[in-house]
Amino acid sequence: MKLGTIGSGKIVQEMLRAIEPIEEVTCVAAYSRKQETADELAGEYQIPKTYTSLEDFFADEEMDTVYIASPNKLHTEQALQAVENHKHVICEKPFTPNAADAKKLKEAAEQNNVFIFEAIPTLFLPNFLELSNHIERLGQIRLIQCNYSQYSSRYDQLKAGEVTNMFDPAFAGGALSDINIYNLHFVLRLFGKPTEVTYKANLFENGIDTSGIALLSYSGFQASCVGSKDTTGENFVSIQGEDGYMYIKPGANGVNNVKITIDGKTKDISVKQDRARLAYEFIYFNKIIKKNNKKSYDELINHTIAVAEVLEDARAQAGL
Ligand SMILES: NC(=O)c1ccc[n+]([C@@H]2O[C@H](COP(=O)([O-])OP(=O)(O)OC[C@H]3O[C@@H](n4cnc5c(N)ncnc54)[C@H](OP(=O)(O)O)[C@@H]3O)[C@@H](O)[C@H]2O)c1
Repeated sequence: MKLGTIGSGKIVQEMLRAIEPIEEVTCVAAYSRKQETADELAGEYQIPKTYTSLEDFFADEEMDTVYIASPNKLHTEQALQAVENHKHVICEKPFTPNAADAKKLKEAAEQNNVFIFEAIPTLFLPNFLELSNHIERLGQIRLIQCNYSQYSSRYDQLKAGEVTNMFDPAFAGGALSDINIYNLHFVLRLFGKPTEVTYKANLFENGIDTSGIALLSYSGFQASCVGSKDTTGENFVSIQGEDGYMYIKPGANGVNNVKITIDGKTKDISVKQDRARLAYEFIYFNKIIKKNNKKSYDELINHTIAVAEVLEDARAQAGL
């Protein structure tokens, strides 16, 4: 995989560090709106080419895959440009601001014979894959609780009157899209799309949700997903079935430790997970591309669309 990056925030740097030890994945180009920022990134991570024009960036023939880590509102437009230039796409979460855009991107990728992925590292972690093999042991699932709360320094900025992209309704920000989305991905990847979605949010005066609770209803069970950027909390996922329960730390973004309790006996079923958090998804996407694995790809893109539909539904309920 020969990558080109869009954006120069923290997540791009985390990604560049994560792929460094992966032989089959290299970064060949970086786009930034400013030459100075592109040069800084290129210097630190030995990226041979930089661009400040998106048109020139997408025309780069060596680059076969674009990693999009721009503000949420720009994902659809940039991903569309990338696939129309016959590049595979790995797009940061949330994939698109609405479900119609997600479907449009899926179609555009098909027409251009490329793959398009949403970057949700959790879904590719060895511990997530391992725990999914143990769900059946819990019997009939009844209750799921997820909490992902992380007090954001950008919330302090918001309170001080500075609206950053993350808390800007015009940039498709907010706690649901930024943090609760990890809980939604976690639950939907294991159990599919819920039959009903409810979202109750704490809204700031500019109308953005700074925290909230999404309730996903399934036939026979309920999943409560808490996502907060205005408080800290104990981050975890708990899955309760009639025969036992599973407790996952530190929750839907990390999955480092998994314990299962059946008949009062608790067992740690965690497996080795010694690569960087973002490394696993790049290894997985690279394999799908190399093997042209349409079955695994379809599963992932359809999952992404289901999450986009749930997000859209939840957002509408909070008036977002
Ligand atoms: N998977 C994860 O764990 C994870 C973690 C954090 C963030 N994310 C996702 O990654 C994406 C980027 O997040 P972030 O916090 O880095 O966002 P950000 O700081 O708001 O923006 C990211 C980059 O986009 C460019 N940019 C900023 N404002 C822009 C504007 N008005 N118009 C055009 N370009 C602009 C900047 O790059 P240049 O100045 O170089 O152009 C900036 O570095 C988001 O979609 C977020 O949800 C994912």
